[in-house]
Amino acid sequence: MITHNDLLVNDLEQFLTENQVRRAVIIADREVCQLHGNFFRSFPCNYCTYPLKVSETKKNWQEIEKIMKFMLREKITTDTWLVNVGGGVICDMGSLSATLYKRGMHVLNIPTTLLSMIDAAWGGKTGVNMSKVKNAIGTYNNDYHVFIDISFLKTLPAKELWSAVGEMFKYALIADKNLWKKLGTLPTSEKMINMEMIPYDWIQTCIEIKQHFVLQDFRDTGIRRVLNAGHTLGHAIESLCANKNILTHGHAVALGLIAEAYISAKQRFLPMNTAKEIKSKILPLFPAPRLSSRDKTIMYHLIENDKKNNHGKICLPLIQEIGKCSPLQYTLREEILEAFSFLEESG
Ligand SMILES: NC(=O)c1ccc[n+]([C@@H]2O[C@H](COP(=O)([O-])OP(=O)(O)OC[C@H]3O[C@@H](n4cnc5c(N)ncnc54)[C@H](O)[C@@H]3O)[C@@H](O)[C@H]2O)c1
Repeated sequence: MITHNDLLVNDLEQFLTENQVRRAVIIADREVCQLHGNFFRSFPCNYCTYPLKVSETKKNWQEIEKIMKFMLREKITTDTWLVNVGGGVICDMGSLSATLYKRGMHVLNIPTTLLSMIDAAWGGKTGVNMSKVKNAIGTYNNDYHVFIDISFLKTLPAKELWSAVGEMFKYALIADKNLWKKLGTLPTSEKMINMEMIPYDWIQTCIEIKQHFVLQDFRDTGIRRVLNAGHTLGHAIESLCANKNILTHGHAVALGLIAEAYISAKQRFLPMNTAKEIKSKILPLFPAPRLSSRDKTIMYHLIENDKKNNHGKICLPLIQEIGKCSPLQYTLREEILEAFSFLEESG
């Protein structure tokens, strides 16, 4: 059985030697290439680099084609490892390329954002967006390892650290009441956050929660779906705002958690007071953008295309109490539209 420890690489050079990695193709965030030149210069094996300017709108199929054409030009064979150096966008896109290219390559994720260290680098999901639908095209890949070097975080903008806090709220709500309390010690604005405020054991806790669910249900048909809490409505908000580049992934997830807490309360899974408590804790940290009724209709149509839907019904995980979540529940159009309004109401 795969465990978290089996997948975590402690010593990069030793790992590459032990696995006889003679050549790597590094799919790298262009920003990270510029900021962390030393890392690339001392990378302990022969490699070529494909630098990519990262954005959510670049996470598309055309970019995957470009990566694969690059690998063909470089005559990459499947004994070459594909190494992702970047945040979640790079991990998702590089890993998708790896699963498709010549029917599969080994992957090593080297996450450089806090969000990708606690989430995107783990679990084997790959993907790109299509027609504004998040991760509409993707695969599962269990042939991957993860090497974490937190020194990358020294250059990470506060806005991106804050994005990871959004995902930490998700982990707390689905599985860890203690983490929920600890997150209450953070400042109330991204402008005041720095890495020292996020102890390493919080990072470990999040990875452990992720792996706990992934290992039980790799293909995401049951219990793993609790990890999607906040993501059904959150992805719709993220897609709506993607062109304006105003919301990070974690910010959208945090808003999705509030909206989905409302649906949980409407369906009597959660007391409405707890939904309001969740909102009063998260919303001051992650303010909601203004949403017109046209925006809400667009988001509803995006949700109709969500991967988790079953038998033509919208399906999402619902929060049962702080620290506990139920994986597969149905919801209705009215509840979704009301949940978006809940984000805007005071109190
Ligand atoms: N596959 C999964 O299980 C999974 C889980 C969660 C999120 N995701 C996906 O991950 C994406 C979000 O990932 P993300 O939050 O890591 O963002 P990202 O990859 O978009 O990176 C955010 C920004 O940080 C910059 N950056 C990255 N590392 C840096 C560093 N060390 N120093 C300075 N700047 C740096 C990037 O250039 C970019 O501008 C979304 O597309 C989401 O769908 C996937």
